[in-house]
Amino acid sequence: MAQPAPAQAVAQTPPMGWNSWNFFFDKVTDKDIRDSADQIVASGMRDAGYEYVNIDDTWEGIRDGNGVLHTNVKFPDMKALADYVHSKGLKIGIYSGPGPATCAGYEGSLGHEEQDAQLYASWGIDYLKYDLCSFIPAVMQKQSPNDKAAQMRLMIAAYDKMAKALKATGRPIVFSLCQYGWDAVWEWAPELGGNLWRTTGDIQPNWDRIYAILSQQEGLEKYAGPGHWNDPDMLEVGNGRLSLAENRSHFSMWAMLAAPLLAGNDLPHMKPEIKDILTNRDVIAIDQDKLGKQGSRVYSDGEVEVWTRHLAHGALAIAVLNAGDNRYSTHPFHLDLAKLGLHGTQTGKDLWTGKTVKLTDSMPIELGSHDILLVRIEAPK
Ligand code: GLA
Repeated sequence: MAQPAPAQAVAQTPPMGWNSWNFFFDKVTDKDIRDSADQIVASGMRDAGYEYVNIDDTWEGIRDGNGVLHTNVKFPDMKALADYVHSKGLKIGIYSGPGPATCAGYEGSLGHEEQDAQLYASWGIDYLKYDLCSFIPAVMQKQSPNDKAAQMRLMIAAYDKMAKALKATGRPIVFSLCQYGWDAVWEWAPELGGNLWRTTGDIQPNWDRIYAILSQQEGLEKYAGPGHWNDPDMLEVGNGRLSLAENRSHFSMWAMLAAPLLAGNDLPHMKPEIKDILTNRDVIAIDQDKLGKQGSRVYSDGEVEVWTRHLAHGALAIAVLNAGDNRYSTHPFHLDLAKLGLHGTQTGKDLWTGKTVKLTDSMPIELGSHDILLVRIEAPK
């Protein structure tokens, strides 16, 4: 008998798109998803690489007598919505979890994994975010009280079960694990078919939280690569009271981390300066670099940090970030090229001004609070 064709490889570069949670939270409706898809096209985001339009929690209704899950009133027809998103040249994502309920208390997939996966495929879903939440008390703690190792085995088995259910549909579906970085998820997620996994708890639209998450990514570099990525959570660019510098730094650093770039802002009301950040193609090219090598922090001097990311064809991205609260948090800051393995003057492109820059050894660099210098060097020496 002929074998079914293997599902096409997904997430060969970090997934890019938009997700409803960081702006709409539980208020998201079918109309918000359609409007957002329209805006991804109108704003030029689609052409810049944003592809997935992801519905997060709170679309779920109840199961009927046959166990088939229905949508709630906010989402009258999921198949029609998926068709609409696809008609725009985009892909669509959805959300569930292995427990009886989702994080927001809606119906989860426990005991209905195959059925739900088949349902998603029948709708034309391209991406699933699978969020642990109620599986912790309802299954892990209940079945194996006081036995952490057994609890973790239950968790891994639950993710494996949904991975297999998705695979069995034959449809290429990106599988996003959301369990906040527990039990070194980066060590076991790729093997079971996870394409990305959250490495921390939830992001918030403020610098302290964004910086705390950034700092927790150190040491995870080696786990990222084509098809499997560390996920420091979705973007907050354009949300809350982030300054322009903070939005720029957040976006730059997620690109340095080879992180999924899932915007989470109010697209129909996006300010031009936010659109300019989200559609900066040079920065996106760092994120989407084919080599798929995650960047790392090379050194810091006071509150100024220097990160590098190795890119395809021997190119190098350098980020100098002032993580401090003052313009002169570390004053004077001098760039130490030798610490980056570089020798003599380097010529590159400043990805936020678009201008050619020369980096010389021990040159002073002064940045505003939470601002960044992001440079791409094609031929580092
Ligand atoms: C958790 C996740 C968030 C979001 C909410 C939805 O908190 O980490 O990203 O999906 O659940 O309820």
